[in-house]
Amino acid sequence: MDIVLIGFGTVGQGMAEVLSRKGATLQSSFREKLRLVGVFDSSSYEVSKKGLDPRELLTRKEKLHRVGPKLEGKSVLDALKDIDYDVMIEATPTNIEDGQPGLGHITAALKAGKDVVTSNKGPLALKYGELMRLAEKNDARLRFEASVGGATPIINVARELLMGEKIQSIRAIVNGTCNFILNRMMDEGLPFDQALREAQEMGYAEKDPSYDIDGIDSAAKAAILANAIFGRDCSYNDVRRSGIRGITLEAISMAAEEKKVIRLVAEISPSRLEVSPRLVPVGHPLAIGGTLNIFQMMTDLAGEVTVAGRGAGRLETASALLSDLVALMKEDCVVRRRTV
Ligand SMILES: NC(=O)c1ccc[n+]([C@@H]2O[C@H](COP(=O)([O-])OP(=O)(O)OC[C@H]3O[C@@H](n4cnc5c(N)ncnc54)[C@H](OP(=O)(O)O)[C@@H]3O)[C@@H](O)[C@H]2O)c1
Repeated sequence: MDIVLIGFGTVGQGMAEVLSRKGATLQSSFREKLRLVGVFDSSSYEVSKKGLDPRELLTRKEKLHRVGPKLEGKSVLDALKDIDYDVMIEATPTNIEDGQPGLGHITAALKAGKDVVTSNKGPLALKYGELMRLAEKNDARLRFEASVGGATPIINVARELLMGEKIQSIRAIVNGTCNFILNRMMDEGLPFDQALREAQEMGYAEKDPSYDIDGIDSAAKAAILANAIFGRDCSYNDVRRSGIRGITLEAISMAAEEKKVIRLVAEISPSRLEVSPRLVPVGHPLAIGGTLNIFQMMTDLAGEVTVAGRGAGRLETASALLSDLVALMKEDCVVRRRTV
C-alpha cells in the first residue's frame, strides 16, 4: 500500500513514527508493505517510488524545519499528479471557513480514485455529503476516525461494531480544552479568564481560543457524527451552538451546591444537533475530568454504550489514522481472498 502523507506537523509526524514502529508487524499480518511514497508540509515535499524512511523524514524536519526540497511555487495538487499512490493521509490544519487546503487535497485524491484517511475536521464538517458521493462515484474510500475524539474510537465503533444496533442519540464531550477550563474553575475556584490563561500556558488552548471556547470545534465534530452515524447531510453551520465564554464562578458554585458540574456537551440524534453548556450530576460519566473525551451512545439493544479516551496528541491521533489504514488493508485482504 503506497501512501502519500500531506501535513507533517504534530499528527503527520506522529503518523511517520507509527509507520516506523508498526510497519514490519503490519507487513507480516497483511502480507503487504506500507510504503510512504510522498510527504508534504506547507513549503516542501519529498517523494520516492521505493519508499521513504519515516525516521529520516522526522530528523530532517527537526533540523531543517522542512521535510524535503522546497515546493518552489509548485502546488501540492500539481506535485500530486506525478506521484503514484494508493492512499492519501490528509493531516493539514482544520479550516472551518472553507475547508481548505484539506478539501482540495481530499477532493483531488477521491477524483483520482484514491482512498483517503484523514484527521482534518474542516472538509468533513462542511462538505461531508459531497465528499462521500465523490468517493462512491470514483470507487474510493474515505475514512476519518481521527477527526473526532482523537484516539477515542467512536465512528468505527458506532458504524462497525454496533452495526446491528439502532443508535438513538449520542451525548459527548469532545473538547478537552473546555473540559480543562471548567475543571480548573470548579476545583481551584479560578475565574474563567484565569483558567483560560492557564490552558493557554499549558498548550491546551491556542492564542485565539475562540475555536475551542465558543464551541466551534465541538460543533464541527457534532456535525461529522451526525453525518457519519445518523446518515444526515448537514454541515457545521446547522449545529445550534453556545460555548463556555459566559460561564461564571457563581454558576459553577451553584451547580456544585446541587452536586452537579458544568460541561460543554454535544448532543446528536436524528432530531437534535446542539452544543451547549449543561449541568451534569457528579459521578455521571459525562462529568469526566481532565482533557479526556467521552461519548455516550443510547442504543436500542445494548442500552448505554460509553467510550472514553484521549481526544488529542501526536501518537494518540496517529493511532486513529492507523486504525483506518488497517481497516482498508483488511478490506483489501478480503477482496484478494475472494478473487483468488
Ligand atoms: N493535534 C492533534 O492532537 C489533533 C487531534 C485530532 C485531529 N487533529 C487534526 O489533524 C490535523 C493536523 O493537526 P496537527 O496538530 O498535526 O496540525 P499542525 O501541527 O499545525 O500541522 C499541520 C501540518 O500541515 C502542514 N500544512 C499547512 N498547510 C499546508 C498546505 N497548504 N499544504 C501542505 N501542508 C500544509 C504544515 O506545514 P508546516 O510544517 O510547514 O507548517 C504542518 O506540517 C488538523 O486538521 C487537526 O484539526 C489534530
